[in-house]
Amino acid sequence: MNRRNFIRKTGATTAGIGLASVFPATSLAKRVTPSDTINVALIGCRNMGFGILQHHLSNPGVNCVAMCDIDNSVLNERAAEVRNKFSHSPKLYKDFRQLLEQKDIDAVIIGTPDHWHCLITVYALQAGKDVYVEKPMANTIAECNIMVKAAEYYSKRIVQIGQQQRSGFIFRKAMELIKEDKIGKLRKVNIWANFEYGVGQKIVPDEPVPSGVDFDMWLGPAPSRSFNRTRFHGSWRMFWDYGGGLASDWGVHLLDMGLWAKDISTPPEKVLVYGANTYHEPRSRETFDTMSVIYPKDDFVINYEVTAGIQKGPYDMSYGLEFIGDNATIVTDRTKMMVYPEWDNQAKKPRADEFSYTEGKDSHGEHVKNFLDCIRSRNKPACPPETGRAAALHLHIPNIAARTGAHLLTWDEANNRFNDNTEANDLITPVYRQPWSLPKY
Ligand SMILES: NC(=O)c1ccc[n+]([C@@H]2O[C@H](COP(=O)([O-])OP(=O)(O)OC[C@H]3O[C@@H](n4cnc5c(N)ncnc54)[C@H](O)[C@@H]3O)[C@@H](O)[C@H]2O)c1
Repeated sequence: MNRRNFIRKTGATTAGIGLASVFPATSLAKRVTPSDTINVALIGCRNMGFGILQHHLSNPGVNCVAMCDIDNSVLNERAAEVRNKFSHSPKLYKDFRQLLEQKDIDAVIIGTPDHWHCLITVYALQAGKDVYVEKPMANTIAECNIMVKAAEYYSKRIVQIGQQQRSGFIFRKAMELIKEDKIGKLRKVNIWANFEYGVGQKIVPDEPVPSGVDFDMWLGPAPSRSFNRTRFHGSWRMFWDYGGGLASDWGVHLLDMGLWAKDISTPPEKVLVYGANTYHEPRSRETFDTMSVIYPKDDFVINYEVTAGIQKGPYDMSYGLEFIGDNATIVTDRTKMMVYPEWDNQAKKPRADEFSYTEGKDSHGEHVKNFLDCIRSRNKPACPPETGRAAALHLHIPNIAARTGAHLLTWDEANNRFNDNTEANDLITPVYRQPWSLPKY
């Protein structure tokens, strides 16, 4: 095989840092059979990644063989927990590229901030691993597109996006009621997310990088800057280089449900957007604390309301969804759902059955089980990349509208660009900091 064919077959140099030498073809993971132990590795250990790892390890036949974090204290503490709770002895890494060379790893969990998701997913696919990558699947439109294409290219690999509501009973039940026409024609989906943390932290000065932290590796492809703890662990979400603010942090989960109700797997054609900072004091944040977004669809509409700095909302729920049909409205969050029937004045009876349910199971655990099942069966997981992309673009597009001051943006899916808006088009693709480069698929 000549070099060009080799590259085409393996995709090995497409990520731009000489991966051909990092991942020789022989490093591809073994095929997992139903009786095999599944060896998993975690990249990004502090919070959600570790929760997801624990869900994996709570299943029989799953072994943690490697963990990686750029922060020594996070890595050592989480590794000690794995040893104590599960009696596994993972190898520890600070550089995920070295972890991906470990041959016995079947699947990696990516629990890093969003700006790393695309690169690490692509490298993991190139190294022959299955991937569970947290939501939003990536921090920009171009990175979402690349991940979808890379997953298509490595079509034998399983890629699950961490939109776990796809696996929870509550939302599956809501979808069943909607699709079985129990609430009549679905006309409107109202979604809200009000969370205190969305205003960001109190402003503090930059400071030296804490010892044991490889901050350059935390920044990765994002622009270089000095260290500030309000843009680091947990609170990075409020800065465009790493995340999309409260709007996207919760929005991908919630919009995903609005899209699922009508089985929509494409980005919005049009958004009408108000995005601003209306909180009473300045905080360490670039993203918006207040957003109202209208997504007009063919025969219904989705409305999304975001208010950071508060925790109250409709039905006394800080976040939730209302699916409004002709015959009834379903109100739901992750723990409960209620059906409120309309009253039929002529027949003198309700137009639908009342129904309410409170969730017992954690949907994260169910989503992980689905991933493990798919690793064994090689079936398509509950939230494949194209589903993750549709949800992520429903938030990236309004954020871009608000950032560029456009109250109306229209998206040209065939050409992967905005219509008539150069400033918005400039925000589709991130500029990666050397030596990292955007994978090409
Ligand atoms: N599905 C959900 O319900 C849910 C909930 C919370 C967070 N999340 C998602 O999980 C991801 C992580 O969020 P979090 O709250 O755990 O963030 P976090 O900041 O608490 O943890 C991220 C960890 O990744 C590490 N990290 C950063 N760059 C790294 C690199 N190059 N290599 C190895 N480790 C690296 C950090 O040191 C840190 O330990 C985000 O994408 C977030 O949106 C999902």
